[in-house]
Amino acid sequence: MNFHVLTLFPDMIEQGLHTSILGKAMEKGCITLETTNIREFAANKYNRVDDYPYGGGAGMVMEAEPVYRACKSVEQKIGRPVRTVYLTPQGRVLNQTIVEELAMEEELILLCGHYEGIDERVLEDVVTDYISIGDYVLTGGELGAMVLIDAVSRFVPGVLSNEESSQFESLQDNLLEYPHYTRPEEWRGKKVPPVLLSGDHRKIEAWRYEKSVERTKERRPDLLKNAVSVTCAFYAPEESLREMILQTTGEMTRYGNFLDVGRKKIRKQRNAFGSGDFLLFAVPACLPSDSPLASHEEFFCSFHGKDTPAALMICGGSDEADQASGQLQLLSERLKTALEGRGFRILDICLNPEESRKRRQFLLGLREKIYRGIS
Ligand SMILES: C[S@@+](CC[C@H](N)C(=O)[O-])C[C@H]1O[C@@H](n2cnc3c(N)ncnc32)[C@H](O)[C@@H]1O
Repeated sequence: MNFHVLTLFPDMIEQGLHTSILGKAMEKGCITLETTNIREFAANKYNRVDDYPYGGGAGMVMEAEPVYRACKSVEQKIGRPVRTVYLTPQGRVLNQTIVEELAMEEELILLCGHYEGIDERVLEDVVTDYISIGDYVLTGGELGAMVLIDAVSRFVPGVLSNEESSQFESLQDNLLEYPHYTRPEEWRGKKVPPVLLSGDHRKIEAWRYEKSVERTKERRPDLLKNAVSVTCAFYAPEESLREMILQTTGEMTRYGNFLDVGRKKIRKQRNAFGSGDFLLFAVPACLPSDSPLASHEEFFCSFHGKDTPAALMICGGSDEADQASGQLQLLSERLKTALEGRGFRILDICLNPEESRKRRQFLLGLREKIYRGIS
């Protein structure tokens, strides 16, 4: 991924980012960083890029033209218009979902303001996203750009030595992470919780979940009110489909429950959910001839929601043939109606989640809705 930072203080960015994990990632070529000094695009011999605000008031404003030219010069090098983020206290406050969504871009321009900010007219022309790093005011956008680059880079493949470590962390499930311990087993009279030494992975996972909830309740109760318990109800006649569905749920939550509706036992029991749950339904577009049930709807007969938020994935359809995608559309509408009739509120539908980019966007969209509070 390539980051292009437009700034009046390129040294600040270069010195701040060429160390530690990001420094190594740049050496490996996983990410690149290019800074452009907006001052080089000043239209006067003093290289001045700011002026007094119309209407009076304190402070200076960065002029439109140098910012415009700096931005266009970067776009020209890349060869196409690029998503351009203006770091500003007036933007959407950065969160983990926005970070992961930005990490899907190949190129990103970050525009740093200074003084009182930048002439509104150029912002209207070049900016695609307004992002704040928190509800406080900084002297310039450089620290914001560095925070954003650091957080986004963690999701670029190869940046972290163990890719897993960017998968499950604080905030993914609207939960803070459980506490961590390392050697020694006893430090100044304090022992590591015995369950972590037990080798019993189920017990360890249950303990971690409990600690996550406890910690979130204590430190960020605001997050907990939007946390949901995720269950994936699926029918996967093929192993590859099953794997894809399990992995997809894993990208959504660390603590997912799974109900395989291909199993008679699951279809026979009553599967009831409330408004604090979230259901991810996943089925193949075409049922195989040896399917235990004749229609998609029958798989969900044992499911009962109470205004329960849910999403639907219809896998393995073909987008290519018009007719096939038309059929897929019809099937998705039919299933949506059926699930709504059973008390589920369908937030989104993903046709052909096998396409990884499409699936990622679908998941991030769902997580963003959860962050904003769906229940
Ligand atoms: C002093 S601030 C200008 C604030 C502006 N007058 C306002 O009230 O919105 C100067 C620059 O710092 C950056 N900045 C300040 N606070 C920020 C924040 N919370 N997140 C991201 N960037 C910020 C922006 O680029 C901004 O143009």
